[in-house]
Amino acid sequence: MSDRVWFNGQLTPPEQASPSVASNTLHLGIAVFDGIMAYWNDGRWNCHLIDDHLDRLLAGSGKMGLRLQWTRSDLADGIRELLETLPARTHYLRPIAYRTAAEVFFEVAVESASVCIFAVPVERDIDAPYRCQLSPVQRVRHEAIPATWKVSGAYANSYLAERTARDEGYDTGVMLNTSGFVCEASSSNLFFIVADRLVTPRADGDLFPGLTRRLIMQLATARNIDVTELDIRPEELGNYEAAFLCGTLSEVRPISAIGNITYGSAANKMFADLLADFRDCTHGPGLRCLTADTGGR
Ligand SMILES: Cc1ncc(COP(=O)(O)O)c(C=O)c1O
Repeated sequence: MSDRVWFNGQLTPPEQASPSVASNTLHLGIAVFDGIMAYWNDGRWNCHLIDDHLDRLLAGSGKMGLRLQWTRSDLADGIRELLETLPARTHYLRPIAYRTAAEVFFEVAVESASVCIFAVPVERDIDAPYRCQLSPVQRVRHEAIPATWKVSGAYANSYLAERTARDEGYDTGVMLNTSGFVCEASSSNLFFIVADRLVTPRADGDLFPGLTRRLIMQLATARNIDVTELDIRPEELGNYEAAFLCGTLSEVRPISAIGNITYGSAANKMFADLLADFRDCTHGPGLRCLTADTGGR
């Protein structure tokens, strides 16, 4: 990770941003985070969908009673400052709002919280298809913990799905929701292709409606592709010719299999077109769509 982090308005060594060992962030997962890709393109950063990511962080933090003293534009300035310290290559940025104080017992009052933003260098344009497990881990119910708030504690669910899948030799796990419909992977949304239709699990509340999912739906609509949100049963997975995952970090990844159902995703024309459109958004010459960038370095 980056040598320095942006912590409560200042660049500091990461150790200075650590929560107390008695913080309820550590014990109960009371924190809200997000992830933003800072693409390094031809001498400048493109922080893909930065405004949407920061709005999501601020909204989730507010709902969790983590009161932040920084506005969206303060956080964007913080990201700019942090980027100035980084080597010129693509990074994943992780902003997180959390409590640093020693609070052993339940503290439910709205209190001021800390924000830290750090960066991790990442590869981009990884084309290798994913082999997915149909996970025995069920997606956590949104009535228990709202999916859209990105609460750290809720991600024990994603961790378990991911760990179970990797232990059994898969790349990731695809979870069902509590009604038994195909929901999403541990940190990415799903799309399926059949003939000239694009299909994605319905955003029923348990599903995390990712920004990349929204972008893919917009890109498909711009190509006059019919996009359908649907409840998909696991036994219907074989009805599709191709499938892919999408998310900030996973970007747009073809799926070669879910359980014993195989797909020819990487060679699918609609998949290839949507992937090209996506890459045009993240680091193409036109930087189309909803991207916001932080300007020159
Ligand atoms: C559970 C879950 N689903 C899907 C996604 C994809 O969302 P996005 O495209 O906004 O990164 C994420 C990533 O944040 C996630 O945590």
